[in-house]
Order: sequence, then structure tokens, then C-alpha cells
Amino acid sequence: KETVKIGLLGFGTVGYGVYEILKNNQEKYLHLTQTKLEVSKILVHDTKAFPEAVEAGMPITDNFKEIIEDESIEIVVEVMGTIETARGFIVAALTNGKHVVTANKDLLAVYGDELYELAEKNGRDLYFEASVAGGIPILRALNESYIGDNLQEVLGIVNGTTNFMLTKMQEESYSYEEALRLAQELGFAESDPTGDVEGLDAARKMVILTKLAFGQSIRLDELDTKGISNILLEDFELAQQLGYTIKLIGSAKVEEGKLAVEVAPMLVPLDHPLSHVKNENNAVYVTGEAVGETMMYGPGAGRMPTANSVVADVLQIAKNIKINQTGKGLPVINSAVQLGTANV
Ligand code: HSE
Repeated sequence: KETVKIGLLGFGTVGYGVYEILKNNQEKYLHLTQTKLEVSKILVHDTKAFPEAVEAGMPITDNFKEIIEDESIEIVVEVMGTIETARGFIVAALTNGKHVVTANKDLLAVYGDELYELAEKNGRDLYFEASVAGGIPILRALNESYIGDNLQEVLGIVNGTTNFMLTKMQEESYSYEEALRLAQELGFAESDPTGDVEGLDAARKMVILTKLAFGQSIRLDELDTKGISNILLEDFELAQQLGYTIKLIGSAKVEEGKLAVEVAPMLVPLDHPLSHVKNENNAVYVTGEAVGETMMYGPGAGRMPTANSVVADVLQIAKNIKINQTGKGLPVINSAVQLGTANV
């Protein structure tokens, strides 16, 4: 096939970013996947809400059937959010022979096992790098780079809103309320920030991380979750005097052969790499028997970092499709972009 067609579910912040990246890098991706990638349908809740997209001739629709019944669409990218509707669409896509990319942590934290199994049963790919820590490729690292190791501990700063607030409290003596207000003004926190500040967003991400790191399914309601709403400015002063800072940490670790998972504000020594993760950034600190201690750091949210992870998943699927089709390998190193070489 010359073209792999994509159905995009959702055209909000991330969806638009995905569309832009795919459009702006066509030549490079053609080289990498040996296939043209085309967003052939974009599902929105109401086409009238997107007059500019209509004007620009973008293929928007408010009818999911146009995607699910279109046999030429091989990849469905779900970036619309919600739990039940997205679940219905993804189940339909997988059972109709389509591969799926999703960024939906809320969905995977509840229905992940069902969807992983469904994808396997149907022989379809299901990728979800963007669901945890936005722009950081932590799921790929756990599922590929650390797959052969025996991991002992995964510690994550996986909620940008709370990390931003705690940084402001620690470094600029903001009160909790002031820090929250600023996080909302800057658009990190939701208008209802309960899921962020009470640790639920981090807990959802830990359910997904725990599955990949330890192969264990845990339910959200059995995960001990504490947020940051009780943290006072004075707590930082005391912590600092003792050589610590306070971070909201998602922790999954093996203790005496058992897995313990929790989300809570924790004291982090000032010389620990996690204490240097500031503002709305995320980081995941992984300790393994063979690999030792590692940390991945970067933006945990935002249009382009999140869209980048979605696009990487799409490219991986497009490569898989091509390899299955032809039985041949693809370029290992991207040499599509020819830059000048500096004198060395
Ligand atoms: N509300 C989330 C955060 C967005 O602050 O990290 C990214 O999942």
C-alpha cells in the first residue's frame, strides 16, 4: 500500500498538534515508514464548532461510523478524552481490525487490561506513550529498554500541576492557594483541579506504569493515594532544614517479593535527582537489578510534547504495517534529513 490512512478522534489541543506534526514532516516520515501517512478523517463532536477547519478543507466529521466503517483507515488515534465514549470507540476500532494509539490515561487506568487483551486477541497494535508523562518516552523505555531487567522501584513525578505548585511553595514561598491560582492562570491545572491536587491523576499514571514495569494490574481504588492539599509552607521550611524537599511521588516498589504502590507527598533528599525536577516538569526514576538507577526527565504535558509521543506511536505502527506487508526491514537510522556536515 502506498498510503496508510489515519482516523483522528478529537481535534483539541493534542489532536491539532498531531495533525500539524504529521503534515509538517511528510517527507521524513515517508522515508522512515516507506508509506505516505494521511489523516483521512477527523472526528469532532460538532463540525459547526470548527469553521476554520471546514474552510481549510480538513476532513472533519461528527460521525464515528465514517471512520469505523472505512476499511481503508488502518490506524485510529484517540485524543478526545472521556472514559466511556472513548472506550466504545477503541473497542470498536480494535474489533474492526484497526490499530489504535491513545493518550487517554483516565481510560487506561480503568479499562487498560480489557483493551490490552482485546488488542492482543485481535492481533492489533495498541500504543499509548502519551498517556503517562506526556513528552517523556517512559513507556517505551519500560516496555523495550528495561524489558529484560528485573525492576525494583519506579518513582515518578508524574503530575505537572502539583510539581509546579510545590516548586512555587518551596522556592518563592507561595501559599498553597496562591500556587494553585497561578497554576490555573497558566493553564496547567484544570478549572476543577481536584484530580491533580488530590493525587488521582498521578495515581492513574501509576496504574499504567506499574503494569508495564512489573506486569501487575492494580485497581485505582486499591492504590493508597494522598494529594498535596494539606501541605503548608511551614512544612517546606522544616524539610529544608533537615536537607529535604517535598514532592508528590508515585512509588511502585518490590519489597520482600511483594509490590507496594502509593501516591503521596514525600520527603526527597536535596541531593536526589528527583529534588531537581522543577516547575511543571515530570520525571521517572527507575531502579533495576541490571541497569541500576536511571532517570528520564521532561515535559509531562502540553500540545507539542504530548503530540510528539502520539506521532512516535503512529510511526511505529506504520512501520509494523509495512514490515508485515513486505517482510522486509526499514531504515534503522533516519537519513531522510540531509543537513550540512560541520568540519570535524
Ligand atoms: N493535569 C495533568 C498534569 C496533565 O498536571 O500533569 C497531564 O497529564
